[in-house]
Amino acid sequence: MGAEQDPHVGDPHLGSIVVAADELHERIRALGKEISADYAGRAPLLVGVLKGAFMFMADLARAIDLPVEFDFMAVSSYGSATKTSGVVRIVKDLDLDLSGRDVILVEDIVDSGLTLSYVRKNLQARNPASLEVCALLVREGLQKHDPRLRYVGFRIPPEFVIGYGLDVGERYRNLPDICVYLDS
Ligand code: IMP
Ligand code: MG
Repeated sequence: MGAEQDPHVGDPHLGSIVVAADELHERIRALGKEISADYAGRAPLLVGVLKGAFMFMADLARAIDLPVEFDFMAVSSYGSATKTSGVVRIVKDLDLDLSGRDVILVEDIVDSGLTLSYVRKNLQARNPASLEVCALLVREGLQKHDPRLRYVGFRIPPEFVIGYGLDVGERYRNLPDICVYLDS
């Protein structure tokens, strides 16, 4: 597709690239190698938090050289705005039983850490053998809750970002790069 046909070109909300597609893929390959080594001989269960983590989870899983299984849950903490409501609720629960499983929680971005701390507590209560977190992005400096992240893709400056699964009002998830969202 030529640049002139890209529907995002000329979009005044689309800011500069924060993490380019090739950097994403290189880092995700490294995370996959690390997870493959750490979980050697085991079959981890990847739990993705919808919808933002779906693209990351798909690429991460293909970078892991182990028999992995998948499940997804959806939580709501933001509505369609770019500010947290402070309330987290489960919109779609898991299908699988976590007891005795080595669970890796896959998140798109950790901002305040509220979503993560809620989901982690919720999953821990289901008695997994182990529970670790793999977050693609961590926004620097804003975590009010201790995030305890085992795997992190990138630490990014305090700007709202879109692309590679991340949205504003359900749009921009299909951008191949992670970009700044200009809210004006
Ligand atoms: P937290 O609960 O404040 O840590 O926010 C985490 C959730 O808010 C993420 O899982 C995202 O769905 C959403 N979110 C936070 N920052 C961004 C962003 O920059 N772009 C898109 N979604 C975001
Ligand atoms: Mg979202």
